[in-house]
Order: sequence, then C-alpha cells, then structure tokens
Amino acid sequence: MKNTKYDFESVVDRHSTNSLKWDLFEDDLPMWVADMDFKVAPAINEAILKRANHPVYGYTIVPDELFEAYIDWWYRRYGLEMSREQMAYSVGVMPSISSMIRCLTDVGDEILIQSPVYHVFYHVIEENNRKVLENQLVYENGKYFIDFDDLDENLSEVKLMILCNPHNPIGKIWSREDLDKIDELCKKHDVILISDEIHCDLTDPKLKYNPFKSSDNVVRCLSPSKSFNIAGFQSSIVQTSNNELLEKIKNQMHIDNSGSCNVFAATAVVAAYNQSEEWLEELKEVLYENKQFVKEYLSEELPVIKLVECDATYLLWLDCSELKVPSKVLSGFLRQNQGLFLSAGIDFGKNGDSFLRMNIACPQELLREGLLRLKAGIIALNTFNKGLY
Ligand SMILES: Cc1ncc(COP(=O)(O)O)c(C=O)c1O
Repeated sequence: MKNTKYDFESVVDRHSTNSLKWDLFEDDLPMWVADMDFKVAPAINEAILKRANHPVYGYTIVPDELFEAYIDWWYRRYGLEMSREQMAYSVGVMPSISSMIRCLTDVGDEILIQSPVYHVFYHVIEENNRKVLENQLVYENGKYFIDFDDLDENLSEVKLMILCNPHNPIGKIWSREDLDKIDELCKKHDVILISDEIHCDLTDPKLKYNPFKSSDNVVRCLSPSKSFNIAGFQSSIVQTSNNELLEKIKNQMHIDNSGSCNVFAATAVVAAYNQSEEWLEELKEVLYENKQFVKEYLSEELPVIKLVECDATYLLWLDCSELKVPSKVLSGFLRQNQGLFLSAGIDFGKNGDSFLRMNIACPQELLREGLLRLKAGIIALNTFNKGLY
C-alpha cells in the first residue's frame, strides 16, 4: 500500500452503530450495499463535532453555502456551470427520483432504464405504479455497450428515462459520444432525462466522468454521499436549467416532504466539497489499488470468475457465468458457506443473473479476507458440483 496522508488502512469496527451494512446481518462479512468502511475526511468529522457541540438540534434551513459548495465543486472539477436558481435540495437521490416519477409521468406509464442497473430504480418505478422498460446493455467480450437502435425504439414509448452515469453496477463512465447520442434521442422523442450522477467523483485516478450536457429536458441528481461516505446524512440536490420543470419538481418534493435538511447534513456537505478534496484524491488511489488487487487475485487464484473492465465506482461486477449457477443461489451459498455477503446480479436485472457485485471500498485487510472467502466458497461449491470447474 502506498503511503497516504489519511488513514485508509485501519479496520473500523462498525458493529453496534445501526449500520445497515454491518448490523443488519451481523455475522456476515458485508461487501454488498454501497457505503465505504473508511473513516470520513477529518474536516467532515471536525465540522460535525463542532456542530454537535452546540446542544440544540432544531429545524434547519438549507444555507446558501451548501449550494455554493456544489457550484464551486462542479465548476472547479468538471467545468460545469450551474447557478443557485437551477437547484433544489433533497433528502436523497432516490427520494427526488421518486418525486420526479410522480410529477412527470402518470400511473401505468413506462419509464426507461438501462439494465443491468441499480436495483432501486426498479423498485421506485414499480412502487409508484409505473412500469419498467429496459434498454438492455449489450455485453460482449467482457465489455458493455448501449444498443442505440433499441434505445431509439424504446424512447418512443416513454416520457422519462433514468440514466446512471457512471453506471452502477458495471462501473462504466459513459463517453461524451454516448451521452450526446442519448441526448439527441431523448430530444427526438421529447423525453425528460434524469441523470443520476451520484458516483461521478469516484473514477480511476487519472479519469474524469462526463457530466450530461445541460438542456431543458435534463435533470441532474448530485450528491456527495458516495464520494465522501456520508450517505447517512441523506442529502442531495436536483439541478436543471429548465425553470418550469424545476418548479414542478420542487412542488412535488414539497408534497412528498422530501426537501428539508437535517441538522448535520449541510455542515457535512460543505466540509466535504470545500475542505476534503485532497482526501478524495487519495481515496481514489486506494480504490484503484484495491481494484488491481482483486483483478490479480482473480486471474491467479480464481480464474473461473472474471472482473468486468470498469473505470468508476467502488462496485466491481464479477462475471460468474462459467459457474453456471443463478446469482441468488451463488450469493446465498457464499453467505451460508463462508459468511460472505455479495450482491446477486439478478437484483440489477434479468441480464445480471450470471454476475455478482462486490463492494471493494474497505481496508485491504478486509478485502483480502473477502477474496479468501470467495475462493473457499467456490472450492466448496465445486465439491458439491462434483468438480464442474
Ligand atoms: C446509482 C445510485 N443512485 C442513488 C443511490 C442512492 O442515493 P440516495 O441514498 O441519495 O437516495 C445509489 C446508492 O447506492 C446509487 O448507486
């Protein structure tokens, strides 16, 4: 491990903190839900402690400072210009997507997503009594592509598309060319595009994601919760250059009560964007090292599982097709046999069923343990399957 200024090596015991990852199924080594096992940047911790020291925790307004932090961050890092008037606060990306589904579509409408994709997209569409229409991503020679003919056809059926950029779970940064083609097709069919860019900062060290171009049919969802491991504060924004659209969304978020800010959220967001960039740059190096570690381990010790090439997020998409076991059975077996909890690929769409998703945002000690368990689990499975692989 390279020398780092910040501590990405110590294993932090997260048990008994009401952690979804560690306390829901206490006996497992959890490498599923997308949060990280690293301590946050010191500036965030200090800012929260300072606020916590003030002993009154009443209702809180969203300070302009928070919006300015977003504006500065995107301009500084991605050259994207946004203004305060284009933004609305939300308690999370999924709550705001849910509100947008309610105000921009009708019950029974189809909404387009690109599978395999973040499983909550399915839930939020179906729980709002809308239907999922899939533009299935094409998987060839270990890489994913968009089928633009299928996208063109499907966009003629919908009012709304949800894009994930970078894409969870395949870890792909969509190219400018791909994004421009999506933009062109959405405009052709008069479709509003929600661009979920929650994973945008977590790219390989020398890479940058491409923000979706601003235009009247585009709403961007942004949040520091993945980049800085502060999902527990539940904070995000929506941003669009279309004022009328923004008013409609704000109105729905008001009805849904999803636009208020908890007492610590703005403090954490401002400390993240304004004071923790150096920490983020180190984190990206650490995640890249972890990815290389997994890649080498799989090719040397467990070649039956292939790592899908990726350039963003800390979620690895493992191609387990050679095992010929449905992903739920495989992940269930690994949990039962090894206490290793990876996400089953089927959760992300039917075309994800020969994959597992592995969260590698943890100190290397835990990652090594996870890989050892994965190998031991596959050996045990092989014994059951009488040496199939
Ligand atoms: C693509 C994507 N969008 C949204 C979320 C959740 O966002 P929030 O916690 O702000 O609702 C996640 C969490 O893993 C995600 O991967």
